[in-house]
Amino acid sequence: MIPNRLTEALNDQIKNELESAYIYLSMAAYFHSQGLDGMAHWMRCQAHEETIHAMKFMDHLIDRNTPVTLLHLKQLKTEWHSASEAWKEAYAHEQFITAKINALTAISREEKDYQSEPLLAWFAKEQIEEEATSSKIAGEMEMVGDSKSALLMLDRELGARTFPPGSPFDPAAYASAT
Ligand code: FEO
Repeated sequence: MIPNRLTEALNDQIKNELESAYIYLSMAAYFHSQGLDGMAHWMRCQAHEETIHAMKFMDHLIDRNTPVTLLHLKQLKTEWHSASEAWKEAYAHEQFITAKINALTAISREEKDYQSEPLLAWFAKEQIEEEATSSKIAGEMEMVGDSKSALLMLDRELGARTFPPGSPFDPAAYASAT
């Protein structure tokens, strides 16, 4: 069993990761409404990744014979003033998640739960990538400014991200499902 204090924080992190998926799906819907289907597609791919992150934490609790508690997800924002604002928020959100992973690592050490460290080390590394990617796109959006042609080029580029095969977030995967 995982110590209580860490169990609570890990259950909270399952919620944070699912909330991340919600945030990115909400941004996907917003981007679709703005005609930015490439950005919407990128956000759907990201929502897939966040759901996997939640499952990794959930499986860790199950493997350690520790109770899983799925917490309440709050109502999230559905509108942004601009695509650029949404990307800035995506970057800020990844910074928030990094702080949560760091706090979990600190708790696991304080509670001497060394078996949680490999998973948290994986997430620490993952967050370097997640922050770098969202920060890069947020920066590119700043450079795009008011240029519609640059915005369309970036939208096309982001639309090239690929889903893992069979992802339920990929419209092509469920279009043919019964
Ligand atoms: Fe699961 Fe984007 O952090």
